[in-house]
Amino acid sequence: MGEPHRLQPRPVHRDDVARGDRQGEADLPLQSERLVPGRRRGGGLLHATHGRDGGRTARARRAAAVAWLGPAHPARRRHTCREAPVPAVPEALVARLRAAGCVFAEEEAAALTAADGGPEQLEDRVARRVAGEPLELVLGWAEFCGLRIAVAPGVFVPRRRTGLLVDRAVEALHGRPGVVVDLCCGTGAVGAAVAAAVGPIELHAADVDPTAVRCAERNLAPVGGRVHRGDLYAALPPDLRGRVAVIAANAPYVPTTEIALMPPEARDHEPHSALDGGADGVDLHRRVAAGALGWLAPGGTLLVETSRRQAPLTAAAVVAGGLAAAVVRDDDRDATVVVGTAPDRWPVRA
Ligand SMILES: C[S@@+](CC[C@H](N)C(=O)[O-])C[C@H]1O[C@@H](n2cnc3c(N)ncnc32)[C@H](O)[C@@H]1O
Repeated sequence: MGEPHRLQPRPVHRDDVARGDRQGEADLPLQSERLVPGRRRGGGLLHATHGRDGGRTARARRAAAVAWLGPAHPARRRHTCREAPVPAVPEALVARLRAAGCVFAEEEAAALTAADGGPEQLEDRVARRVAGEPLELVLGWAEFCGLRIAVAPGVFVPRRRTGLLVDRAVEALHGRPGVVVDLCCGTGAVGAAVAAAVGPIELHAADVDPTAVRCAERNLAPVGGRVHRGDLYAALPPDLRGRVAVIAANAPYVPTTEIALMPPEARDHEPHSALDGGADGVDLHRRVAAGALGWLAPGGTLLVETSRRQAPLTAAAVVAGGLAAAVVRDDDRDATVVVGTAPDRWPVRA
């Protein structure tokens, strides 16, 4: 790895790939957050990054941090809500978090203080945060599409950009109830958000990781979602074949060699099985696309989150799977989704 990447003055999101100063770096895999390896403590990824930029004002650092954390971050949420001013918190706690590199020390202190429990639990939470654990894991929840999603150690924290997958799934349902599959579900955030948006649906979620399955069960129980454990489609009940209106997949898509370039929150606190997409990052996409026609209803929709750089590979996989493919891009969320549409008629594969 060469020079560390400094963030541009323009905002980036916590779940963005951190953009380097070079234009050519502007399209890295979205799950990989390429910042300064090994230079972060607590929330100090930006702090460490910007520590190299002595001329940058505190305001500019904060603006970049706001964007990096994104609205999914509990501390950011407080920051952006003008009607809910940050309650007074002990200065010593703020100073401790700041010293650990937390850019949003006041807001994080407030979030940590507001969580349930007494002084011992608060001290435990603060110690974990100061040691570098992501705030969402310390608090036990992340905001996603306006929902509070339970997260647990060892499970992928849902990212703001994945809201595009949710939006497209809602659109594909055309306001009609239909069977939705949240494939590679992690916490089940995608399925939960779709169900919250469209009302009662037959929702199935699947993940290979038992910790993710337990977490998804917590998040999807209130909307009646069923969670299955297993390798991609092998996890699903066979009677779903040919009946699924929408498959939404945020499968791992970080190229294996780029995981080491991710910030510590991801590479140290999320399982690599939730990130690793193989040599070019698209191994899982190929498998998801190859199996989709066996499960989709005629005219059904496959949605696959990808990066702008990888979108042509993902789209090619979708076409090879027998679907028409289109790439949808949302610059605001730095999100890319390949939309695959099944033919109106075809023999359902055995
Ligand atoms: C990037 S995370 C996305 C989680 C969730 N969909 C979200 O957006 O927050 C990818 C998930 O895929 C799961 N996964 C990886 N390989 C899988 C496989 N072969 N079959 C099913 N799930 C898999 C991981 O356990 C992880 O939970």
